[in-house]
Amino acid sequence: MGKDRKINRREFIRRSAATSAGAVIASYPGGGVEAAMPAPQDSPNGRIQVGFIGTGARAHQLMDDMRGISGLQITALCDAYKGRLERAVERTGARAKVYRDHRELLAQGGVDAVFIVTPDHLHKAHVLDALAAGKDVYIEKPLTYTVDEGLEIVNAVKKTGRVLQVGSQGVSSPLQQRARDIIASGKLGQVTMVRASYNRNTAGGAWIYPIPPDASPSTVDWEMFLGSAPKRPFNLERFFRWRCYEDYSGGVSTDLFIHLLTTVHFIMGAKMAESVVAMGALDRWLETRDTPDSMNAIIRYPEGFTLVLSATLNNESESERGFQILGTKGSLQLGGELVYTPERATEDNGWIVDSWPRALQEAYYRDPKVQQSEMVRRWPPKVVEGSQRWQAVGRRDTSLHIENFVSAVRSRNQPYEDAVVGHHAASVAHMINLAAKHRRAVDWDFSADRMKGRA
Ligand SMILES: NC(=O)c1ccc[n+]([C@@H]2O[C@H](COP(=O)([O-])OP(=O)(O)OC[C@H]3O[C@@H](n4cnc5c(N)ncnc54)[C@H](O)[C@@H]3O)[C@@H](O)[C@H]2O)c1
Repeated sequence: MGKDRKINRREFIRRSAATSAGAVIASYPGGGVEAAMPAPQDSPNGRIQVGFIGTGARAHQLMDDMRGISGLQITALCDAYKGRLERAVERTGARAKVYRDHRELLAQGGVDAVFIVTPDHLHKAHVLDALAAGKDVYIEKPLTYTVDEGLEIVNAVKKTGRVLQVGSQGVSSPLQQRARDIIASGKLGQVTMVRASYNRNTAGGAWIYPIPPDASPSTVDWEMFLGSAPKRPFNLERFFRWRCYEDYSGGVSTDLFIHLLTTVHFIMGAKMAESVVAMGALDRWLETRDTPDSMNAIIRYPEGFTLVLSATLNNESESERGFQILGTKGSLQLGGELVYTPERATEDNGWIVDSWPRALQEAYYRDPKVQQSEMVRRWPPKVVEGSQRWQAVGRRDTSLHIENFVSAVRSRNQPYEDAVVGHHAASVAHMINLAAKHRRAVDWDFSADRMKGRA
């Protein structure tokens, strides 16, 4: 390995490719592939052959979570930093072929589906190229970098007939599914308010990650990372901490809120927000970024509820965690576990009628309806329903989410978190950033399925 560190990136790729029997690095045909593509059932032994576009931190988690899911085989890898490719080759038992870039990877046979795990500003290009090449797509959240990219992707999925799943894995967890069932059953009564937060208080939590010591222009492909982003000189902070910069990410909103939004849409059966106001600030990590380190947003849904989202990178108190779903008959707290608490609120206007003329006060309490609803202190004792609590045991959400993708690839039915769901969740996150930046409400145009006004 010591010797390998000294080889340059091109040489690394050449050697890795050469070690895979029969590896051919084909040239990219130029996109635009529209012919019907064989479904993965036609792959050898019904296996789904998987390529990774981007083999960074999240990709390695995904590779680990794929273990134990039968019928998946990682056959192809590409990345813009040599060190991560090296580790991915190691993690896949040197069985996957390495390609210079995503186009070369997509142009070859032996890949049915791709996992796109690149910085957010590259998602659209990578997804569209993958769909055009006839691949099914697992794309990490957020689906898009701008609102307008969403419809392009939705249309490309329709046109190509490929399966696409976005990677906010929470919706595949049994706990979130239980929350959705409870809300749909009416147990909470009318839910008019949902609150959710996602907080951190470390440099790593604020995406100021360590930079590998071997990173340099000979191991990092800066142009490949930039893609269509504004041209800038080589910069390792931007490459490894891209979430801190607007050129590549929407920061807190598209990285953290996106999980909360996807979950709220799922459990509330909501499709899309109608209006957003927000306030963001950069108070602490001033020298490292241009995206805010705190964000608060209020979001209204046509389904008849308001969502309040809050995130800070400057405190992670236990009391400010997860989701509160607040109904007229009960509440759900959703976090590491799911807790139902019934409402026990009862009318008590005693202190109001105590100021009335005595005869009117006595008449008020003779009313049978008032006796039913307000005579709490004179009611006979009774047993009322208490809290309930559920915990999930077993496999991680990500593993279940990958399994849902695999089922969709095999059945050819889109999964729950398809392009439309991903487009809407990401669009709310972008609307939050725009509302905060321009200090104005941002509304959704439901007939055009895009934001009203300028982006
Ligand atoms: N679902 C989750 O819980 C979760 C968790 C973490 C990250 N993510 C998402 O995963 C994606 C990647 O995040 P990460 O934390 O792995 O970031 P990362 O920086 O660790 O990895 C990104 C990788 O993409 C590579 N890359 C850059 N440009 C490329 C290009 N043109 N072609 C191929 N590879 C290229 C980089 O070299 C890097 O290795 C993001 O969209 C992020 O939001 C999701």
